[in-house]
Order: sequence, then structure tokens, then C-alpha cells
Amino acid sequence: MKVLSVFGTRPEAIKMCPLVLELQKTEGIESIVCVTGQHRQMLDQVLDVFGIHPEYDLNIMKARQTLASITTAVVEGLGEVIDQCHPAIVLVHGDTTTSFAAALGAFYKQTAVGHVEAGLRTYNKYSPYPEEMNRVLTGRIADFHFAPTIRNKEALEREGICKNVYVTGNTVIDAFATTVRDGYEFRDEALRQVDFSRRTILLTAHRRENLGRPLEQICDAVLEICKQTPDVQFVYPVHLNPAVRETVFAKLADHPQIHLIDPLDVQDMHNAMARSFFVMTDSGGMQEEAPHLGKPVLVLRTETERPEAVEAGTAKVVGVETNEITEQALKLLNCPESYREMATAKNPYGDGNASRRIAAILREEFSEGKSNKGCAQ
Ligand code: UD1
Ligand code: UDP
Repeated sequence: MKVLSVFGTRPEAIKMCPLVLELQKTEGIESIVCVTGQHRQMLDQVLDVFGIHPEYDLNIMKARQTLASITTAVVEGLGEVIDQCHPAIVLVHGDTTTSFAAALGAFYKQTAVGHVEAGLRTYNKYSPYPEEMNRVLTGRIADFHFAPTIRNKEALEREGICKNVYVTGNTVIDAFATTVRDGYEFRDEALRQVDFSRRTILLTAHRRENLGRPLEQICDAVLEICKQTPDVQFVYPVHLNPAVRETVFAKLADHPQIHLIDPLDVQDMHNAMARSFFVMTDSGGMQEEAPHLGKPVLVLRTETERPEAVEAGTAKVVGVETNEITEQALKLLNCPESYREMATAKNPYGDGNASRRIAAILREEFSEGKSNKGCAQ
């Protein structure tokens, strides 16, 4: 039986590649990969690390692309791919516009959909934007739901989605088996120059709802933290979105305590995280990864669809106001007890076996003689 995995951005790729590798070795499954290319360079970096060569590439990325252009290109392109390879199920991941459009494209072809990383919610349709609604709509279309945590499963049940919902853990934890190791040498030249014996804060910020004023405020907090703690340095791999780069380079370029570098491949990124003091980010995935590595995370958003890490004590939602971000970062830098509390909390996102569970469920559900296909054909 053919399983078609579809993804298009960096985070989807990082979380789907471990599953694709697992599907490739699962008896009875023919794994096929279609990338949309919603991201180009940042997607290719991940495919490279995992050694995955997609059978189909829609190659849709445009500079400053719109949500509508991504959606139409993916629905159209995926329909043609499905016509060619006739998968038993299409797997999509998470909350990007690739995920939602691929789910919709599969539905239009009356093909079953499996949603990996299902059931995360903020219940605010504009935060994260457009991801919250992408995830809700994908869940509504999907026939199989792979929820990382029990909370995610319960969220689906409250929406009346009770059939074929499985708690699996998050595949992002599986990715660490490929990436972090002792004595790892960075590939990125700029990263090789960073002295990690200094206290290092790993920073990323890129979200659509943070573009403009919020991102400027985040940068102002970084400048203030540098001023108040001269021994500390920031490493900020800056997303390739021109709207992010314009703000960040205008505010933070040429500062002796701030390394602005290009996006890292995931191996460099995970190993840089492992060597950092703590993480400041508006990323979704990094809220899950940092707890696995025992690193506190300050979440640069007003709310999160990943409250498990906050409840576990490893993450704090600090918003996008300069003063609050600065205050919380200084607390971690200056108060060993506050740091220790966050650094020793438990990772709630799984045991590194999520991909194995998902592959086993698919094999079981789609095995010969079983007709639980969840679609009209
Ligand atoms: C997308 C996802 C977001 C995810 C993020 C991960 C949507 C709506 N957003 O947001 O959920 O958190 O990816 O990073 O699906 N660009 C390049 N090269 C690349 C990647 C991006 O040049 O490899 C530039 C292009 O100009 C592109 C722009 O960045 O138009 C924005 O990319 P896009 O995928 O639309 O939005 P992201 O903010 O990356
Ligand atoms: N990441 C990476 N290189 C970078 C920045 C991030 O490999 O330069 C990884 C990070 O470790 C995490 C994922 O990309 O696995 C998060 O992607 P992003 O922040 O773009 O998206 P989000 O998680 O917010 O959807």
C-alpha cells in the first residue's frame, strides 16, 4: 500500500523525515514523498541531512508569497500527483499552509488523510496566524489523527473527532536520534567561530504575527539584555523571509555580542541548542526541542498551543513587550535557582518512538483485508 507523505516547510520536514525513514523500512508500505517547496533552501537543508529524495517536488516557492498563492498551487499540484500515484493515504503534518492545502487537495481526490501532530490548539484563530486555523481545518478533513499528547487527543474529542485518534508523542523528539552527538563539529562556518564556553542565548523569531512592531520590540529586548549582561552572547540564525531579515539586520547588525547568521541545517541547530544556556524563540518546534535537551525556553508570543512545556516548567510565555522579555531573560541569567527549576523539568513531548508508532498503526489499519480507509472511494 502506498503512503504519500506531503510537506513543504522546514519544521514539517524536520518532523516528517523521521517518519518517512520509518515508513521506508515498514513491511507492506511503499513510502512516497511529495514536497511542495513552500520553502526552498530551508527545506532542502533538511532533506539533505536525512538523505531523503522526494519522488515529487511541486517547487512552488515565490519571494514574499501569499497564503492564497501557496494554497492554490498546492491544491492543484497535489491533485495531479495523486492522479499519478494513487496513494492509499496522504500524510500531512501540523499547521502550515502546505499542510492544510495538501489535506484539502487529498480530500478533493477522495483520498484518506492522516494528520501528524494533530490536536494542538490556542482557540484564537489569529494566533498563531494562520497556523491555528490551518490545524483546525486539517483536523476536520483528516481520517487519522496522530496526537503528540493526551491533551491534544482530548482537544480533538471536544470537537467531536473521536475516531482513529492515537496518542503517539511528537516525531520531533525522534529526530534527535539523527542529529545530536558528543564531539559534533559544526558545518556552518559562522557557527564554528562562536565560543560556546561563553553563556549563549539561542534566538529565533520569524512568525507572521510578530512581523513589524513585535519583532522590533524583541530586538530591543536583545539589545537591553546585552547591555545589562556584557558576558552574554546571542546566536540568531535569521529566517530567510525578507520581512524578517530587514527588521533584524536593521536593529541588530554589527553588535559585538550578537551573531546574526544564516539558517542552520537541523544538525547544526540541534547541536547549537545543546550547547546554549537557554533559548528565546517564537518557533513552535523549538518549544518542544529545548525541553528535551534540558534548556529553558522563553516563548516570544502572547500565547502558545504547546502549554505542556509551560506546565512542566521548562517554558515560559513572555510575550513580545521589550520590558517583560528583558526581565525574564535577566532572571534566568542572574538567578541560578530560577534557571535550575526550568532546566530540570521533564520533557512532555515523547520518548523518541512516535514515528515507529505511527508506521505500525498505518500498517495495521491498511493491511490486506481491512477496509478502514476513511474515504469515499
Ligand atoms: C512558514 C509557515 C509557518 C512556519 C514557518 C517555518 C505558513 C503560512 N507558514 O512561514 O507556519 O512556522 O514556515 O519556518 O505555512 N523564504 C526563502 N527561502 C526559504 C524559505 C522562505 O527565501 O527557504 C522566504 C520567501 O521569500 C518566502 C518567505 O520567506 O516567500 C516566507 O515564507 P512562507 O513559507 O510563506 O512563510 P514563513 O514565515 O516561512
Ligand atoms: N531550525 C533549524 N535551523 C534554524 C532554525 C530552526 O534547523 O536556523 C529548526 C528548529 O530546530 C526546529 C524547526 O527548525 O526543529 C523550527 O522551525 P521554524 O521555527 O521555522 O518553524 P515552527 O516550528 O515555528 O513552525
